[in-house]
Amino acid sequence: MRTTVGIIGAGPAGLLLARLLRRAGVDCVVLEARGRAYVERRQRAALLEQGAVDVLRACGAADRLDREGVRHEGFELRHRDRRHRFGVAARTGGRANTLYPQTELVKDLIALATADGTPLLFDAPVTAVEGLDGDRPVLRYTHGGREETLECSYVAGCDGSFGTARRTLLATGAARLHERVYPYAWLGVFADAPPASDELILSGHERGFALHSMRSPEVSRLYLQVPAGTTPEDWPDDRMWDELDTRLAVPGHPLHRGPVTDKAVIPLRGQVVEPMRYGRLLLAGDAAHLVPPTGAKGLNLAVADVVTLARGLSHRRRTGSTALLDRYSELCLRRVWQVQEFSHAMTVLLHAAPDADAYERRLRTARLDRLLGPTAAAAEFAENYAGLPMDAPLI
Ligand code: APR
Ligand code: PHB
Repeated sequence: MRTTVGIIGAGPAGLLLARLLRRAGVDCVVLEARGRAYVERRQRAALLEQGAVDVLRACGAADRLDREGVRHEGFELRHRDRRHRFGVAARTGGRANTLYPQTELVKDLIALATADGTPLLFDAPVTAVEGLDGDRPVLRYTHGGREETLECSYVAGCDGSFGTARRTLLATGAARLHERVYPYAWLGVFADAPPASDELILSGHERGFALHSMRSPEVSRLYLQVPAGTTPEDWPDDRMWDELDTRLAVPGHPLHRGPVTDKAVIPLRGQVVEPMRYGRLLLAGDAAHLVPPTGAKGLNLAVADVVTLARGLSHRRRTGSTALLDRYSELCLRRVWQVQEFSHAMTVLLHAAPDADAYERRLRTARLDRLLGPTAAAAEFAENYAGLPMDAPLI
């Protein structure tokens, strides 16, 4: 088989790239290792920046998002035993996040790809990426029990942080992986319990971070900071609910409890592959970078990458010039490091460092105090939380 762009992975990055390329008249094929049901059921992020929503609307992928997504113009910050409303839209000229589960976005993008005839193969794991130094790279993959090949002009590595594309790019020795591993993790929980608030509740409690989020009016999504190396078994339901109440609840506003349907430990790390390109292989999304989930930026970074990549590939098709493609990594990394920095700062601000002494704990309290008023710190936080522009070069 032959195409212009071979896309590895049918997560948000690969599927949105396919949508953008289709509308730009650039032919592509998407190869996904897992089955459709698995990919559509995989619970991940849920908070879309205004810029990401605008991209989805512009490419005709936001019909259900506009019907079912919930606009979040701010969140509650639980600090000094009180819950304070932090207004995001009020500080950013009306920009706000939208809560729309990644599972739903993936379903929408798969339905669109299927409807417009984009070749999207499930149960088709890519086993090798070859010929990167030439102008006709080849993807080797298996499908239906057979070894197959896909000849491309470009390969978009959208196969996540453990995928073949990142492994192949790092094996060239022409790229390096920057990494920060945090000394704590998140216990992530789904519960059949109605959310206790319409908005997110974040807490930088002295005992540790906690977050109250949601997936629907019936399902709560909750997180607790736990020590690195924790297992779900360390946190029986009652202990978990009690700790969530300690860190998030305030008098008169308890959390609503209900059956826990999933409990997992999520490590916190930041990673960036530099550069994000080698020859005809270009990484996008988690294949290129991971952020600590505190700022909910992983999905939004993936959107920003593929907007830049689609623009470069479209420019090449229209003009024959690779000028934009040649700047892909440079343009993406400017935004990636800005978002890494914000995600890191928000993580340190809201998590209790296990080795922090009394002096450092009071410094963190002072930094949180600065978010509570009409301060420059609050304005800068809001700008980053609502999201940097998706397409304009930052500087
Ligand atoms: N061949 C084909 N597909 C592969 C391979 C492979 N060798 N390896 C992995 N994949 C697929 C995975 O099954 C997955 O469906 O690539 C896809 C990668 O999707 P994601 O991991 O969701 O990454 P991305 O599309 O960059 O989206 C980033 O999703 O993981 C969350 O928190 C993350 O919200 C962020 C967003
Ligand atoms: C989530 O709902 O999964 C979520 C929301 C906000 C965050 C992190 C995760 O900052």
